[in-house]
Amino acid sequence: MKAGRVGFRPLEASDLRLLHEWLQREHVGRWWTEHRTYADVVAHYRPAIEGRDPTDHYLVLLDGRPIGFVETYLVSDHPEYARVVRVGDGVAGVDLFVAEEELTGKGLGTEVLRAFVCDVVFAEPATIACVAGPDARNGASIRAFEKAGFQAVREFHDPTDGRDHVLVRLDR
Ligand SMILES: CC(C)(COP(=O)(O)OP(=O)(O)OC[C@H]1O[C@@H](n2cnc3c(N)ncnc32)[C@H](O)[C@@H]1OP(=O)(O)O)[C@@H](O)C(=O)NCCC(=O)NCCS
Repeated sequence: MKAGRVGFRPLEASDLRLLHEWLQREHVGRWWTEHRTYADVVAHYRPAIEGRDPTDHYLVLLDGRPIGFVETYLVSDHPEYARVVRVGDGVAGVDLFVAEEELTGKGLGTEVLRAFVCDVVFAEPATIACVAGPDARNGASIRAFEKAGFQAVREFHDPTDGRDHVLVRLDR
């Protein structure tokens, strides 16, 4: 991937139809199992757009064109998840997907992660580390995080989805 083509812009209410359509795509929905209906998507994402939820959601832009989604949040803002991952304070979580399947497997996810962690996550001075918890069977995701500098720390079981996940972490 040529440098400088990836960008981010905050998710807006007018993006929610597109986001819903992306979440129905097989290669995304396999790993993003929540928010199946448009009403679910609105209920989940609109509070942050309106400033009532501290999670930051972004569209990923490739040469200005929306091609994916990435979000970040403070793990401590989600006490139930914080108890499961046990990473302490000042740690941000990150989740992403590339919506265009034909763009996957070409290094783009790795480039998105590198840029997002540098430009967005660690732009917050109080954030000491960034973590994610890809499904333990999601080899492409785990590998993309590792190529972006994250290290696999341990596996954990998340009772909310009943799945095993790999905790990956990148310290500032
Ligand atoms: C996960 C995702 C963001 C990664 O982005 P990407 O552009 O496909 O990733 P990259 O091309 O940068 O890297 C993928 C790596 O995984 C490898 N890989 C692919 N399938 C794999 C598998 N089943 N097991 C192990 N490694 C695999 C690729 O070979 C590549 O590694 P390499 O460069 O060393 O060969 C993207 O695939 C995606 O959006 N998938 C669907 C949604 C999703 O899984 N989101 C993540 C939720 S945590």
